[in-house]
Amino acid sequence: MNVTGTGTAALITGANRGLGLEFSKQLNQRGYFVFMGVRDLEKGKNALQGLAYPERASLLALDVTDPVSVERAVGQINSSGIPLQILVNNAGVMMDGDIMKDSTTDISSERLRKTFDTNFFGLVDLTNQVLPTLLRSAAPRILNISSDMGSLQLHAKQHPLARTFAYNSSKAALNMYTIHLANALKEKNVKVNAVHPGWVKTDMGSEYAPLEIPEAVEPMVAFLLSEDLGTGKFVHRGEEVAW
Ligand SMILES: NC(=O)c1ccc[n+]([C@@H]2O[C@H](COP(=O)([O-])OP(=O)(O)OC[C@H]3O[C@@H](n4cnc5c(N)ncnc54)[C@H](OP(=O)(O)O)[C@@H]3O)[C@@H](O)[C@H]2O)c1
Repeated sequence: MNVTGTGTAALITGANRGLGLEFSKQLNQRGYFVFMGVRDLEKGKNALQGLAYPERASLLALDVTDPVSVERAVGQINSSGIPLQILVNNAGVMMDGDIMKDSTTDISSERLRKTFDTNFFGLVDLTNQVLPTLLRSAAPRILNISSDMGSLQLHAKQHPLARTFAYNSSKAALNMYTIHLANALKEKNVKVNAVHPGWVKTDMGSEYAPLEIPEAVEPMVAFLLSEDLGTGKFVHRGEEVAW
């Protein structure tokens, strides 16, 4: 059985395309009011119109690396008066270049920093800023969109996929954050989890990916809304992933 979303809201970052847009669509379908965090409001307008119930959605200008935009977006959510139950930390970048080439020894510090700015520092900043709002709702849930490319254990055993060092290490840091946050918020009954979507046909995943966007997002939404959701887990399609 799933929790009902009626009357409560979800914030999704990077909601104008890819997995973030599909999260917005599926949570909107399930009865949630969705706050769609987008960097470009014009592009966001088209995305919002693709929702089944666009009247139950609102665009927020949100660049997770820009503290001013984060503060403003959180203020807009607070002013709406709609209780925020869910945060989907979806926005992410991969800036290593050729996914088949090992970037470990020649990644520029600029690309490494920019990757961490979005995938880690911005995500942590947004989460901390939105936390007081989430804590006012009955059963808050935070879902971090990670990747098995951030799994230390899989890499130690020669991960069969990419050696995109900046991306992989930023997701490994996100995984550590997930564990820390889950532990820090255990007493407050906030469920904090990470998911690996699989390799999905998005701008990031490329046309060569085997999974279509809806089929990748469905199990993540089912997991996020499950009544017996635990905390501090790293999951892919119902199976735990090695940290
Ligand atoms: N696709 C896959 O195979 C795959 C696999 C594992 C994990 N993931 C993870 O899934 C998440 C979504 O990926 P995707 O495949 O949907 O990628 P995508 O199609 O490239 O979309 C990325 C989204 O993140 C947004 N974004 C980038 N930087 C941002 C920032 N500073 N502030 C706010 N939003 C920002 C983008 O906004 P703009 O349109 O403004 O650029 C876009 O909406 C990412 O965290 C990714 O690492 C994807």
